[in-house]
Amino acid sequence: MPRTQLRNDRKFLGRTSKPEDIVVVSSEGAHVKDARGRSYIDLTSGWCVGNLGWNPKPVVDAVRKFAGPNYILPSLNYPRWTELARMLVDIAPGKLARAYRCTTGTEAVECALQLAMTATGRHKLISLEGAYHGNSFGARSIGAGDVDNLLRGCAKLTPPLDERALGRLETLLRGRDVAALIMEPISMNLSVLIPDGAFMRELVPLCHRYGTLVIADEVACGFGRTGALFACEHFGLEPDLMTIAKAVTNGIAPLASTLATAEVADACEEELSFYATFGWLPLAVEAAIACVKHWRAHEDQILANVADRSNQLRARLSVRLPEDAELHVIGLACAIELGDEDFVSRVGKRCRKHGLLVSDEEDTIELFPPLIIDEPTLAEALDILDEAISAG
Ligand SMILES: Cc1ncc(COP(=O)(O)O)c(C=O)c1O
Repeated sequence: MPRTQLRNDRKFLGRTSKPEDIVVVSSEGAHVKDARGRSYIDLTSGWCVGNLGWNPKPVVDAVRKFAGPNYILPSLNYPRWTELARMLVDIAPGKLARAYRCTTGTEAVECALQLAMTATGRHKLISLEGAYHGNSFGARSIGAGDVDNLLRGCAKLTPPLDERALGRLETLLRGRDVAALIMEPISMNLSVLIPDGAFMRELVPLCHRYGTLVIADEVACGFGRTGALFACEHFGLEPDLMTIAKAVTNGIAPLASTLATAEVADACEEELSFYATFGWLPLAVEAAIACVKHWRAHEDQILANVADRSNQLRARLSVRLPEDAELHVIGLACAIELGDEDFVSRVGKRCRKHGLLVSDEEDTIELFPPLIIDEPTLAEALDILDEAISAG
């Protein structure tokens, strides 16, 4: 069965890269099982999706017992939409007060960019050099890659993000024509890039001085990944707009949102038409409500585990890595820059062979363990990773 499946995958499924030789049949907690009966420790969480571990009972139960409508025309009323919106703005940082209904992270980013442009009447944008914010033309025009070079819509701020970067940013803002700066407050896509506190404290006041809004993209770093519910909280960052997706339903159903301050939302009310057919499908809304409820009831406990496991990960990796490797860890977001793409690819392959899933892109191994992973499981995973790296 696995071989036929792989053959058919190649024949029928549109992909832009080759799939791994793993046919997934089930997943539970920190583990994924394949069709050969092999179990893998999953240190990807589906790239920051299954933060609560796979198959979290309260969320699965909420979806199973849902007997409401399949679909509701977006212009009608539905109390569960209002309830989820209220819950999201309640847990969000700063003055975010309104939640827009989107389906994917990319769409939430599109929505944020359009809101920022409409509210300010400006069209220019700033993002971080090399950033990733999704796969549409709009999102890619603020990212890095071949398509982005075609679009050229956006000024880029180059890390390191320290006090001196504020000067570079001010130069970009001076024309008073920039609608928004968009960034992940801690960038999962830039090898867990952690900006300096001094930069982040000045970011919003500096942007506002020039009439520019700040968009925090929490699609990947939100929902506990960095050791706080939202990465903005590490810096006391109060964005004008924030995007969330991925872990908001733990991967059980697609749902995303753009959160905006009342000021931004009011400025756009009659001005912008934003419509997403599948934005906040009732079943997905149940999953998101169950996830947020779970976070509200267990946040301290989950984040305490994140802190303990983060220490375990840092302690183990910092003494065992090759000398020229660079390690970035915050919460349960970890990037190991090995500086050599072939080496990283070998490490990824060896890990999979020995029952461990890691992200192995370009010259970096990234680890995004589920936030509920226990000490022995993480220790076992780090043993496998250690051996895979030591083999050279
Ligand atoms: C920071 C960030 N923003 C946006 C996106 C796009 O999200 P989606 O794949 O749900 O469209 C991603 C996806 O990885 C992301 O990491």
